[in-house]
Amino acid sequence: AAVTFTACVFDSGFGQDTSVFTPTKPPAFETPLPIPPLAESEVVDGVRVFSLTAQEGQMQFLEGMTTPTWGFDGDYLGPTLRAHRGEKVAVEVTNALPETTTVHWHGMHLPAAMDGGPHQPIESGGRWRPEWRVDQPAATLWYHPHPHGETEEHVLRGLSGMFILDDEHSQSFGLPTEYGVDDVPLIVQDKKFRSDGEFQFDSQGNEVGLLGNVLLTNGAWGAVLDVSTELVRLRILNGSSARTYDFAFDDQRDFSLIATDGGLLEAPHITDHVRLSPGERAEIVVAIAPGTETMLRSLPPDLGDVAVPGAYGGLDEFDVLLLRAADQLRASPPLAERFGDISRFTAVDADNARIFDVQNREINGRRMDMNRIDEVMQVDSTELWEVTNRDLFPHNWHVHDVQFQVLDIDGETPGPELSGWKDTIYLEPRRVYRIMMRFEDYVDDENPYMIHCHLLLHEDEGLMSQFVVSRDEASRNAGPVDPNGG
Ligand code: C2O
Ligand code: CU
Repeated sequence: AAVTFTACVFDSGFGQDTSVFTPTKPPAFETPLPIPPLAESEVVDGVRVFSLTAQEGQMQFLEGMTTPTWGFDGDYLGPTLRAHRGEKVAVEVTNALPETTTVHWHGMHLPAAMDGGPHQPIESGGRWRPEWRVDQPAATLWYHPHPHGETEEHVLRGLSGMFILDDEHSQSFGLPTEYGVDDVPLIVQDKKFRSDGEFQFDSQGNEVGLLGNVLLTNGAWGAVLDVSTELVRLRILNGSSARTYDFAFDDQRDFSLIATDGGLLEAPHITDHVRLSPGERAEIVVAIAPGTETMLRSLPPDLGDVAVPGAYGGLDEFDVLLLRAADQLRASPPLAERFGDISRFTAVDADNARIFDVQNREINGRRMDMNRIDEVMQVDSTELWEVTNRDLFPHNWHVHDVQFQVLDIDGETPGPELSGWKDTIYLEPRRVYRIMMRFEDYVDDENPYMIHCHLLLHEDEGLMSQFVVSRDEASRNAGPVDPNGG
């Protein structure tokens, strides 16, 4: 698998002062894939309690170079939290960083005050203890900071982790479930390093944000996974701030896409590639023969009708992870043919409709304002949204609190890869995405949830708006409302 690397070592940037590291040779793919540890927890009075500390650290991602990092309970990334549907969970978060941050539970259905968005800051030295009941299908979720205007930098420094939810339904198919063995989390992030080893944060005028030239998988550049089973389940998270990937294997082998952001599809979808924009997840199951190898790669993604040549920095193919099978493999149960129906929204179910136009750093002509509630959703109502990227460069669309279904794209039913629950979706320019979701359980007229582009530079620059879920029917479509009633 050839990756093109430029010959030059440093090129000078602007904005951030110093020059940028450019790899001169591909990594050897000999580093054992680091597996984020499973977070410990204790059940106290019926609540499963985790604790997480955001802290400073340092890593050697590149030979001979030390990179200052941030991590949860360690130098980089964070442990994998895991809980079962129906459980009450709490997380005791401590901020040992020199600045204010937040921790958001991406994809989780939970009360707005527990959501960890920009309205739940944790000051340096401070603590925060959200608590909620897990009540949604098994899925691969994740957590990351969400401080307004600072999300890209905090995520780039290393603050991210997975939050895996289990339920009986998903456990009834004999899917690979041995964590780190045949059920493997993959946090994929592109990075740019300065010549002094520090992360580059400045996107240097790139419209989509920071695009890196080094690809880290669970924090390792050039990682190998030693496979001991016939089937491997990979839970892939695009944890990058700007880059969209198209994951495939170097031998174009087929694999089964089994789950998207919000859980299992109705049936495994056999394909040879899957596109993920920032924040999206895919669970895939791939078969490997004894004694063989295959490389998980990212191919240049089809971004739709984008008109920004070089938006991807001229480097858009990466080797991600080498899978190396042992000479003898443990048998895996065959993959189920069906997981079961997902009850579908149809347009007639909609109690209310909204239109969202995304352009530059605005949603419907407005930038994020922490003091303005942009939309009021009525609890126990189903909504149909028409979302369009009016630009000719990439955006995506992420909604807190809910998982949505994609009804159609330019009037056409989407393919199987968009047939399940989603919380984040790539928006190909100038196409109309109709999505449907239901707001339920949690009412709070004060604390908003967020809707935003998950290209983190865009989010930070204001491509985000706020909604509350209310009991008050009259407030539907009320437009800007001052949360303080003024
Ligand atoms: Cu993953 Cu509002 O975030
Ligand atoms: Cu965007």
